[in-house]
Amino acid sequence: MLLGILKENSPGETRVSLLPESLKSLVAQGIEIAVESGAGLGAGASDAAYLEAGATVTPDRATLLASADLLPLVNAPDASDQAQLKPGAVVIGFLRPLDAPQALSAAIARPVTLFSMELVPRISRAQSMDALSSMATIAGYKAVISAADRLPRLFPMLMTAAGTIPPARVFVIGAGVAGLQAIATARRLGAVVEAYDVRAAAGEQVRSLGAKFLDVDLGGIATEGGGGYAAELTEEALDRGRDLITRTAAHSDVIVTTAQVPGRPAPRLIRADAIQAMRPGSVLVDLAAPAGGNCELTQPGVTQTLAGVTLLAPMNLPAEVPVHASQLYARNILNFLGLILKKGVIAVDLADEVLAGACVAHEGAPVNPRVAKLLQPAG
Ligand code: NAI
Repeated sequence: MLLGILKENSPGETRVSLLPESLKSLVAQGIEIAVESGAGLGAGASDAAYLEAGATVTPDRATLLASADLLPLVNAPDASDQAQLKPGAVVIGFLRPLDAPQALSAAIARPVTLFSMELVPRISRAQSMDALSSMATIAGYKAVISAADRLPRLFPMLMTAAGTIPPARVFVIGAGVAGLQAIATARRLGAVVEAYDVRAAAGEQVRSLGAKFLDVDLGGIATEGGGGYAAELTEEALDRGRDLITRTAAHSDVIVTTAQVPGRPAPRLIRADAIQAMRPGSVLVDLAAPAGGNCELTQPGVTQTLAGVTLLAPMNLPAEVPVHASQLYARNILNFLGLILKKGVIAVDLADEVLAGACVAHEGAPVNPRVAKLLQPAG
């Protein structure tokens, strides 16, 4: 049984799915591991380190794709890679099955099994496989560090002989995994932090981190969907949030916005008037950029300066912290592999709730009903 570790080929990607340190338990099960040369370089792992860990290293991506039975990836394989997969192979990664299902169609039609880390159910047994939370934690941290770096002010309050500097004011929108990490990071740097989320349950977590939770009366509508995620709101409810955001933006030095609804475009919460209300020099980091952005002026992947306000819209912040992002991701992957490997042999049991939930497609047909629906021809 051959497990392949590919060099991720999407632009700007630096992470790798498994690090040399992850291979021990796999090698002990008698699994053969082949690594594409340079796969770990972005994350500080040399070919020599993989060799030392018991893998072989090859420059031949095509042969690796055609011979691997198990392919843990970070990002979805492109169409050319999909066409080369070995029949019966199991592919695991951030496959974007809900936001870009068409990009997977070549693989879905093949006799392979696709598991998406985004679809791992949020149940306690699967917490150690929750790669979305791992990456969101890193993105939340790095968003605040990026903002602090750009801000022409300091974060902490300083009392010096030359006078007192007030603390920076940070506003975090969306207090999920990324938002809570952003709050914790901004607090550690000494900022005064306010946060807003449509889920009332987030209030207690925000306050426990020493930040102020801003409540909006949304008229008693349901704001929670399944699995702890938010539900998609009506335009009227969104408007109440938008008004609060514009008011809060006026006294914020930094906004970090993270609001998302799974499988939907990110809610447009920050109007142009909120940007205009911010002081010149302020910074907005739109972590929802990959899903279109929370700010109506966001251009995903583009840094803009608008009325003196810097608007960052990073598409892949975890790739800016490749060592720890790969380390956490590799642990999530290893834990997931524990469900499909029995003594070094692949044994996929789709009666397992976690595997069934994460399975995009199996043997030439979509398994996930949402993916199947998205792939149906319109009309
Ligand atoms: P996410 O990345 O989908 O969304 C980020 C945040 O945006 C969420 O807190 C959401 O409520 C908020 N949001 C969505 N629409 C909004 C709007 N219109 N206005 C303001 N905020 C809005 O969610 P994430 O961070 O992946 O997880 C959300 C929650 O799920 C966590 O806080 C936690 O309670 C739960 N969770 C449960 C896990 C488990 O049971 N294993 C693991 C991880 C998270």
